[in-house]
Amino acid sequence: MIVNVEDARAAAKARLPRIFFDYVDGGAFGEETLAANRADFARWTLVQRVLNDISTRDLTTHYLGTSHPLPFMLGPVGFLGLYAGNGEIAAARAAHAAGVPLCLSTFSIASIGQLRAATSGPLAFQLYVLSDRAIGDELLAQAEEAGVETLFLTVDTAITSVRERDLRNGFRALTRISPALGLRLLARPRWCLDMLRAGMPEVGAIAHRPEFGKGVLEQASNLSRRIDMGLSWADVERLRARWKGRLVLKGILSPEDARLARAAGADAIVVSNHGGRQLDGAPSTIAALPGIAEAVDGGIEILFDGGIRRGADIIKALALGASGVLLGRAYVYGLAAAGEAGVARILAHLTEEVSLTLGLMGLTSIEQLKKLGTAALKPR
Ligand SMILES: Cc1cc2nc3c(=O)[nH]c(=O)nc-3n(C[C@H](O)[C@H](O)[C@H](O)COP(=O)(O)O)c2cc1C
Repeated sequence: MIVNVEDARAAAKARLPRIFFDYVDGGAFGEETLAANRADFARWTLVQRVLNDISTRDLTTHYLGTSHPLPFMLGPVGFLGLYAGNGEIAAARAAHAAGVPLCLSTFSIASIGQLRAATSGPLAFQLYVLSDRAIGDELLAQAEEAGVETLFLTVDTAITSVRERDLRNGFRALTRISPALGLRLLARPRWCLDMLRAGMPEVGAIAHRPEFGKGVLEQASNLSRRIDMGLSWADVERLRARWKGRLVLKGILSPEDARLARAAGADAIVVSNHGGRQLDGAPSTIAALPGIAEAVDGGIEILFDGGIRRGADIIKALALGASGVLLGRAYVYGLAAAGEAGVARILAHLTEEVSLTLGLMGLTSIEQLKKLGTAALKPR
């Protein structure tokens, strides 16, 4: 039975071929930052207050320029369509049923246009800057055409770190399914059937370009090779001039970069270390958040991700200065476990956890929590 994110993780592990489970679950090198993202939430305790009427609680809150019924949204995670058939559409439907946005990764099976055609709720798009500017422009045009208002530019992946689980499983060099891998995939027959039903996966955004090859693995490998390693603040400024909608820089971990993001004209940042998948040894995001919030002092909106598995994690990030948070693996485990229903279940669990935690702290709304800020927490 899935009663929390950890249960969904166990179900995902049982359902996914190991090569894909490890890709989702793992982090860079020794996975220290991955572990710290979880462990450091425990460095804060919640202040409990009693005998305030908490019979109704309001989780509505404001982030990314509008009001949302919940303080969390679904962040960009690559290849959702490999964890469940039509995974991007399934995740977006669950998000929209809960009234929250999904941010589609550049590395997705569904293109933003296909996702827009299949769903009607709020969508954002995550962009990697590619050395071939023409392709980047085409991705932006696709997002514009789909009516995307918010663009997340991921800035912590100019080079890709080493995830040792992927090395061991041969994921990193994978461009085709070898007979040996085929046999290993067959050990997960329910997943195989699900994939067969959804049809041959491709990277939707560039599938029409023959130079990327055929099939998701070859296309993803060719796309990764084109990520611009020279990405700099000048590129952010160029993008700022080009993109008329809201621009969010995802992957900020230092107060200095938060200030530079603001100076470059970004509307918001995501305090993120890519879920511990890039710079191993970097601070956890919950440890980095207070210093960044202090440095920008309200001058730029701050979103947050990394290690969120519990409602209390969300409460802590909001108290420390985030306007909203992005879920990563938490919803992906649900998706891999049970498709759209699995994501819906995770969102429902987190909603309940946030609501109960808020009430047990003696608070009745997320807005009240945000006003209270760090006074809602104590260091352990
Ligand atoms: C399997 C996987 C794929 C990811 N793909 C992307 C991506 O394509 N673009 C991006 O900006 N972030 C990507 N991320 C990072 C997430 O957006 C997010 O920062 C991270 O998962 C948050 O940590 P959490 O999973 O512990 O909550 C990915 C994360 C995972 C686990």
